[in-house]
Amino acid sequence: MPEFSPGEGLLLLSKGIRNYVGGKPLIVSYEVTLSCNCNCRHCDLGGLRQAEQRMAPADYAAYTRAFASPLVQLSGGEPLLRPDLVDIVRAVKNAHKPTYVIVVTNGALLDRDIYLRLKEAGMNQLSVSLDFPDERHDAFRRRRGLFAHLERTLPELADIGHGDIIINTAITKVNMRELRAISDLSERWGVTVSYSAYTQLRTGDAEYMISSPEDLLELRGTIDELIHLVRSKKHIANPETVLRDTFAYFENGSMPRCSAGKRFFVVMPDGALIPCSLHRQRYLSQSEMVHDFSSSNACGACYVAIRSYTDKPLWKLLFKDVPSLARRLFDRYVSL
Ligand SMILES: C[S@@+](CC[C@H](N)C(=O)[O-])C[C@H]1O[C@@H](n2cnc3c(N)ncnc32)[C@H](O)[C@@H]1O
Repeated sequence: MPEFSPGEGLLLLSKGIRNYVGGKPLIVSYEVTLSCNCNCRHCDLGGLRQAEQRMAPADYAAYTRAFASPLVQLSGGEPLLRPDLVDIVRAVKNAHKPTYVIVVTNGALLDRDIYLRLKEAGMNQLSVSLDFPDERHDAFRRRRGLFAHLERTLPELADIGHGDIIINTAITKVNMRELRAISDLSERWGVTVSYSAYTQLRTGDAEYMISSPEDLLELRGTIDELIHLVRSKKHIANPETVLRDTFAYFENGSMPRCSAGKRFFVVMPDGALIPCSLHRQRYLSQSEMVHDFSSSNACGACYVAIRSYTDKPLWKLLFKDVPSLARRLFDRYVSL
């Protein structure tokens, strides 16, 4: 079974540095379908889509060889809706080495069988979205029974012992008081949690932004509490810098210097390149996208995970984030 080892970690790090210096992407996110079996309140991709043009696993292998990014994310829409997802994982994993493969899912179709097949095909990380630590998650995602399903499934999968399940929580005005509870729940379930920030770019809805002085004051307290936990516990994935910058994004209402199109970009189901999930202009090549979009991009209206983990100066990534992530990797291996 292809597992992620500290040796592979070093290879990924050196590949990451070479790509950073050489202007190549650190992460490519494949939206393998825009269909989704949820209809989340903060997202524009709810509902099923008919007759979508989709790349085959061999196409994903060719793209992965060409882009040669150390990290690859399979997202959507809902990737588990694709019957050939396991083949896509295997194709990208074997197309280029080293490739760290992340599958991002709402978990509605997740069970032991598909988890083990994804794992066997080479998935390194399973990111499962969770917006509330209870049934309010169902209402937010407009999918009845989803929280109960995750509550049954995630601890069982975590028990298998790969240490590769991460809960993704996008911080919004309506769940900002639940962040500590989500952290506690992750610890109980035996999984890791990673926080990111809501953006209104998907839906245009400002209702979920955190902007009032009272809310910001409360959020600052919660972020400080999470940073304290990051120092003492192992189950929060965010480096301190990301948590601090997430607060700064809400406080300032923006985060300048986005590197979409350069350090990261998205591939649509039909193979077109787009700078990010929030700017869907289509390009045929990365160089065209950098020329026409990235070089003049002044957008600062998100601080979603793909951006927050890749969008920093090299020194900050190397001396702040990498040591923190390496410590988590080390913790994971010594505690296995
Ligand atoms: C678009 S979903 C696709 C993958 C999968 N269907 C899922 O729910 O995880 C990927 C992530 O984007 C997050 N997301 C959706 N809308 C967002 C928004 N407006 N701001 C920040 N994150 C958002 C979701 O919470 C989820 O964690």
